[in-house]
Amino acid sequence: MSQNPLVRKKLRSRFETVKLLESGGSGNTYLLSGARRKTHEYSLAKKTLRNRFEIVKHLGSGGSGDTYLAVDLDLPGRPHCVVKHFHPKDTDPAVLPIAKSLFDREAEVLYQLGNDHDQIPRLFAHFNEDGDFYLVQEFIDGHALTQEIVPGHRLSENAVLNLLKDILEVLSFVHQNNIIHRDIKPQNLMRRYSDQKIVLIDFGSIKKIGALGAGLTISVGTPGYMPSEQAKGKPQLCSDIYAVGMIGIQALTGLIPEQLQEDPNTGEVIWRDKVQVSDAFANVLDTMVRDRYNQRYQSAAEALQALNSDLGLSQLSQSAGINQNTDDTYLLTYRNFLLLLGIGLGATTSLIVLVLIYTFINTGTSPPNQPTQLNNFIEKFVEPRFANIKVNHLVAKSASNRGVYKSNSTIANTTKEEIEP
Ligand SMILES: Nc1ncnc2c1ncn2[C@@H]1O[C@H](COP(=O)(O)OP(=O)(O)OP(=O)(O)O)[C@@H](O)[C@H]1O
Ligand SMILES: [Mg+2]
Repeated sequence: MSQNPLVRKKLRSRFETVKLLESGGSGNTYLLSGARRKTHEYSLAKKTLRNRFEIVKHLGSGGSGDTYLAVDLDLPGRPHCVVKHFHPKDTDPAVLPIAKSLFDREAEVLYQLGNDHDQIPRLFAHFNEDGDFYLVQEFIDGHALTQEIVPGHRLSENAVLNLLKDILEVLSFVHQNNIIHRDIKPQNLMRRYSDQKIVLIDFGSIKKIGALGAGLTISVGTPGYMPSEQAKGKPQLCSDIYAVGMIGIQALTGLIPEQLQEDPNTGEVIWRDKVQVSDAFANVLDTMVRDRYNQRYQSAAEALQALNSDLGLSQLSQSAGINQNTDDTYLLTYRNFLLLLGIGLGATTSLIVLVLIYTFINTGTSPPNQPTQLNNFIEKFVEPRFANIKVNHLVAKSASNRGVYKSNSTIANTTKEEIEP
């Protein structure tokens, strides 16, 4: 065994007991707890399942088994897909049926949710071959968030805010279906290359609210992202919110959850002194990771709303100066508009008055015997004698001004005397 320390290390992290079975030229064969052989780990290499899914490479190993990249030989262009092989590391007879039911539920949930949400992989197949169980799902071409949230590296407040919003959006859909993911962590969140959206993977730990596991309390999740009630086997929707909050704190501080202390009196995570962040955002994060689950946002939708509204408010106050300037500009434009309108109206009115005066004068210079509008009006409505006096006075005045004196000058003189004593 000491000849191959790498294998020994890997085996020790997965299996409790290891016994040497045989030793040969090609290497050693070991018996693992549960009578599984070491060679089984990547036994699917180059295998084709159902005559359709050809295994390309091993992607990872988890509690329920191994995950492989494969190609679908039945489809044009042989697109990639992901094959999960049920192969639990804990072969305790009490745990095995639970692990199997989790594996089946992963298939069910992918089938139910993956078809309806673009940020959850779709289920392609779920079958049993040669006594082993498999599920095949859509391949997400992207990278895990472990590549963005790197220990020792801090992301900006804005980057973390947008990241959490993205995660909470897809998680809201999961919660709407009364499903607790139970294993939200950077490894299980992928950023898809094609559209940069977050895709939630690994539904191998999910719990449907109301569905109890045969009276047995099991703790499923990953330490650091798992709140206390989940560790006690009583997860809530808001247990996922705790995990999202821890991801946010990790991204801001550059510290992994295990590096953060808890307040011994309150049980709350101590992190605010580790990084400069706005109070509004820090308060939302604090509420997400409250030790007592009833003090957290109760679902992804609620947490998302808090991020949008609380931070929206703070950003609003930050940009108040800009808004004030914008308001001033509007006011100035409005005043200028009113001023111009006033000037315009005034000019138009003056013009109309001038035109009226001009028309009036022109009317007055018409020959006296000819009917004018003014004459007609006066003849009809004003007392005839006075009318004559008035009209002839105007005519005489106008004529005398121009040095012209015509036939009815007497009347004109009379009129002059009557009016101008
Ligand atoms: N749909 C997918 N598209 C692309 N890569 C995937 C997909 N599903 C899983 N992977 C890759 O395989 C790795 C392991 O898969 P997954 O997280 O589903 O299982 P696990 O954590 O190993 O197992 P378990 O379900 O037992 O916790 C992931 O971290 C990811 O890198
Ligand atoms: Mg995983």
